[in-house]
Amino acid sequence: STAQIGVTGLAVMGSNLARNFARNGFTVAVHNRTAAKTKALVEEFGHEGAFVPAETAREFVAALERPRRLIIMVKAGEPTDAVIREFAPLLEPGDVIIDGGNAHFEDTRRRERELREQGIHFVGVGISGGEEGALLGPSIMPGGSAESYASLGPLLEKISAKAADGTPCTSHVGPDGAGHFVKMVHNGIEYADMQLIAEAYHLLREVAGYSPARIAQTFRTWNEGRLDSYLIEITAEVLAHTDAATGRPYVDVVADAAEQKGTGRWTVQIALDLGVPVSGIAEAVFARSVSGHSALRAASADLAGPRPTALSGEAADAFAARVEQALYASKIVSYTQGFHQIRAGSDEYGWGVDLGAVASLWRGGCIIRAAFLDRIRAAYDARPDLPSLLADADFAREIGAAQDDWRAVLGEAVRQGIPVPAFAASLSYYDALRAERLPAALTQGQRDFFGAHTYRRTDREGSYHTLWSGDRSEVRTD
Ligand code: 6PG
Repeated sequence: STAQIGVTGLAVMGSNLARNFARNGFTVAVHNRTAAKTKALVEEFGHEGAFVPAETAREFVAALERPRRLIIMVKAGEPTDAVIREFAPLLEPGDVIIDGGNAHFEDTRRRERELREQGIHFVGVGISGGEEGALLGPSIMPGGSAESYASLGPLLEKISAKAADGTPCTSHVGPDGAGHFVKMVHNGIEYADMQLIAEAYHLLREVAGYSPARIAQTFRTWNEGRLDSYLIEITAEVLAHTDAATGRPYVDVVADAAEQKGTGRWTVQIALDLGVPVSGIAEAVFARSVSGHSALRAASADLAGPRPTALSGEAADAFAARVEQALYASKIVSYTQGFHQIRAGSDEYGWGVDLGAVASLWRGGCIIRAAFLDRIRAAYDARPDLPSLLADADFAREIGAAQDDWRAVLGEAVRQGIPVPAFAASLSYYDALRAERLPAALTQGQRDFFGAHTYRRTDREGSYHTLWSGDRSEVRTD
């Protein structure tokens, strides 16, 4: 047994991760359900480092140094359980099974509990950065026991991305499902970021009247400022791309129906369970869903409404500058909502997640990496109990400075009939938090009227009910 780590499941993510370990000087045992893939990996990339190919599960386990560290890189769900069932009986107390897939954190909690009985550490690890990240350095979000991190952490720190200041983009997030939970919220924020950028594009196209190439240029400029991020950067690339077959902008020949594999949807489902308002993320998930309902869209194509008319010249450029403000302000809101959800999950499950550390490990490698995350980290480092990102003085000042333009952009979108669900949800969230009084008082009155659900008063303690079908006097119910 010579391998410090093993990877089973050699599809692209698995083989790239195995290569990343090998390229960083680790000896890696590699295994796949069909041995041909293992052979192909070693043939093609064997020169990159030390691989130990294993044909059977038994050989694979035998190749690993103890305590064994074994990474599963198969499809989330039943395939992961099947691999665990295959390997767990071959392992010994103290060994560590690592699930690097996009697992649901509740599955991770269950698996961790079951394997703990056997003395095996089960570590659910969120890995972000796509295929390239897996190979060159992803952002890694490990859950599981502190003991497992002591054994695994140094390896992950070696292969992970590094932030600009050299810090590895990984750290122990918290026990059992904490890593996969944080990865789930990462993906929710990813959906929101992408939708906000898409709305900004739509406005620049329809209201500013910019061409895709011009918008690519605009995004490149924005990428030099406070919006500096991987997603803005690749957006410019996509928009600048021309379709070879037709010579048209690539973005005009791709079908406008966005797909999803589920992690963004999980974020919203869990947010509903936790009672956390992640309205921007939710609108991003729904926007993908609306785009995919082709029959519904076709049946609605003749509905009345304005057709956008584009601005031109200086007015167009002034509008584009406002869109940057709206995008930035909405982005602050998405991260505020996402971090709220992480805090709520951490409280619910007793994980003790350090929000500043999460912001720190998202600074490199992952899809949502951005200069902005440095600022979020600083805000939580300065005040670990910060109740909301919007309570940070710097973010509050910036969003305050952006709000006039944010409102102007939304006004224009509404006037011209351009859907901006994520921009609008973000501004409504901001205004709801600012509001001195919300109409929730009326909601409470309605609930009390039809269901005697009771309400609290602003001026006295206690719980009350009005006798709506009687003389409308008020009774105390507690
Ligand atoms: C990442 C990505 C990655 C993937 C998701 C989202 O962090 O590397 O989030 O996990 O892109 O599966 O994909 P969908 O858009 O298909 O849900």
